[in-house]
Amino acid sequence: MSENHQKISKAIQYYKENYQNLHEEFLELLRIPSVSTSEGHKVDIERAADFLVNKLSGLGFDKVSKHPTPKHPIVYGDYIVDSEKPTVLIYGHYDVQPPDPLNEWQTPPFEPAKRGEYLFARGASDMKGQIWATISALEAIIKAGQPGLNIKLLFEGEEEIGSPSLDAFLESHKALLKSDFVLNPDAGMIAPHKPTIVYGLRGLAYFELRILGPKADLHSGIFGGVVANPANVLCKLIAGMHDKEGKVTLPGFYAQVRDLDEEEREELSRIGLNDDFYKEMTGVPALSGEMGYTPIERAGARPTLDVNGLYAGYIEKGAKTIIPAYATAKISSRLVPNQDPIAVKESMKAYLETNVPDTVTWELEYMSGAPAYINGEETPGLDLFVDALKETWHVEPLMKLEGGSIPVATSMKKRLGINSIITGFGLPGDQIHSPNERLHLPTHRKGVEVLIRFFA
Ligand code: BES
Ligand code: MN
Repeated sequence: MSENHQKISKAIQYYKENYQNLHEEFLELLRIPSVSTSEGHKVDIERAADFLVNKLSGLGFDKVSKHPTPKHPIVYGDYIVDSEKPTVLIYGHYDVQPPDPLNEWQTPPFEPAKRGEYLFARGASDMKGQIWATISALEAIIKAGQPGLNIKLLFEGEEEIGSPSLDAFLESHKALLKSDFVLNPDAGMIAPHKPTIVYGLRGLAYFELRILGPKADLHSGIFGGVVANPANVLCKLIAGMHDKEGKVTLPGFYAQVRDLDEEEREELSRIGLNDDFYKEMTGVPALSGEMGYTPIERAGARPTLDVNGLYAGYIEKGAKTIIPAYATAKISSRLVPNQDPIAVKESMKAYLETNVPDTVTWELEYMSGAPAYINGEETPGLDLFVDALKETWHVEPLMKLEGGSIPVATSMKKRLGINSIITGFGLPGDQIHSPNERLHLPTHRKGVEVLIRFFA
């Protein structure tokens, strides 16, 4: 057995023997409601950051620190084995989405509960579980010897609110963060025995659109038929944003969209995410989307426009007869490579300038945006990571375009000039951002093995 193989078996052995302790610590982290979007959870955010600081210090990491930012702290730590060896920068976010709607949870979101092979808690999959897989593998490899490469860890607390402080931190800590490549386990696999590497992610442009009508809510009998109803107007505007073929109608929306070539379409079709998969996953009676593209193409390689929230008029129980004073929609667009979020904002503005009737006024707020990400040239470390996946699962990993967004991948490329290996050990059924988020523990443990092999 080579020295490396010995180290790997020893580390895997260590992980098995110490699984209970590591699992208990993981539960502790999951119990901290580190919701980044609400001010009320500021102390919990700090507690989660402190938890990680303590853990890394305990493992013998250097320069372990909690860097304050205008909002939530960034945790950093490194483990340098030999400055001649390559360095990986591992990214994670310790913040989570709000758990609402609370009454949909079978057990409380911050009281992790095991049912069958799953562990249920907010953040179990996205992405405290992925952070924990990383930390478990690092602990195992450190106890078994030394990692084969230098490790730098960066955990932020603002991912779920669009990482407002990250760019400035990357920019001002270039020397500290200098690495050969990034490992970003914030994506996932497509099924339990199908290890997956994401080579591209969609971007995002997020808006709030307000349609303003009368100066106050009106009696819909006295004024109905005379004054435009902002809710009706908003619905009509939204309806007009797609045509019969499922294409977005905003002027110039597709101008910069990167086309798929036949080879890539062929490759994507091999992943096997067909109509039945999406129907079963979501429970819808039929799929929808842009004509002429398969589901995996529509979810990964084509841009979309969706209402994420609607607010107008009386939404409590019972009936109330009014013409609302205003109507609001949160609308976001998932972007694909070469689309510029600012250009999409301009498209949206142009659409509204042409289509909003003069019976109302309107306001468009651009809330946030990030371009898509695609791994262009060679990513150092990718071959080794593929090997680690193959040795663990004994199958060829799939290369996938992901529909979700991880704007930090683009930031790291832009600010630090390095590519990301985007992967993870969550599953499509994990219900991330949704009630009853869960983690498939057997897949998670396999993930730890992959990481042990990779770090060795
Ligand atoms: N981990 C997700 C992104 C993701 C989900 C990647 C599923 C791969 C598979 C991440 O935490 C996330 O939700 N990102 C936000 C980004 C937004 C707030 C800018 C998203 O995609 O909505
Ligand atoms: Mn995430």
